[in-house]
Amino acid sequence: MATSTAASRRVSAGVGFGIDIGGSGIKGAPVDLGKGELTADRMRIPTPQPSTPDAVAGTVTDLVSSFGDRSGTLPIGVTFPAVIQHGVARTAANVDEAWIGTDVDALLTQRLGRSVVVLNDADAAGLAETRYGAARDVRGVVVVATLGTGIGTAVICDGVLVPNTELGHLEIDGHDAETKAAASARQRESLSWQKWAQRLQRYFGTVENLLWPDLFVVGGGVSRKSAKFLPLLELRTPIVPAALFNDGGIIGAALYAAEHG
Ligand code: BGC
Repeated sequence: MATSTAASRRVSAGVGFGIDIGGSGIKGAPVDLGKGELTADRMRIPTPQPSTPDAVAGTVTDLVSSFGDRSGTLPIGVTFPAVIQHGVARTAANVDEAWIGTDVDALLTQRLGRSVVVLNDADAAGLAETRYGAARDVRGVVVVATLGTGIGTAVICDGVLVPNTELGHLEIDGHDAETKAAASARQRESLSWQKWAQRLQRYFGTVENLLWPDLFVVGGGVSRKSAKFLPLLELRTPIVPAALFNDGGIIGAALYAAEHG
């Protein structure tokens, strides 16, 4: 299990393993830490419902076992869609409430029988984009926002992450922002790209007025379709799609575990 005091070291080679736990799917793959690329096709298993700690830990164990030796020997990185403070889940917006207060690091380390390091899903994507992707070598403040079931955010300054920023839950116009501007809201309400872009304009406009970032990076599955909505936004901050698309969580988790496990 990782500890909050574990010294971080910069890893620039080797094969790690990352797992991305989401509300609907659990994905994992080995990662080339030098290139920031998957070294094998990722595996996806539907998230058990209800997504209790015991059931999810079982699925994570099956996923790692199925890769055999290809899961390597480095600590395994796991993302979780909630606030993770020193390995412990503090919220559960889109997963079973039983997770709140669970030491996810300890649970998965015990079930997998090897060192596991857990972090917030958007934080993992943010680290991956900073090291290998769209925010590589960008100085100053970068905000990475993943648009999916919810909105996840990572705030990174000169390559250093401020964890658990949770800007997807900013209250805007009386609403929890992610309920209006996440990719799931577009689908749920059958919004046109243009209508959804108006909501993104309000969202990113609010964030840039609060944080004055140097760059926004937009991740999540919908980032593959960024040409349909990013050109509609008028922000003072440059805004670009994630380079790693939906693999950022897996890649960032593997990197973080290798450096902090
Ligand atoms: C959660 C965040 C998470 C985001 C994306 C939000 O509802 O509060 O912790 O990063 O969804 O999964």
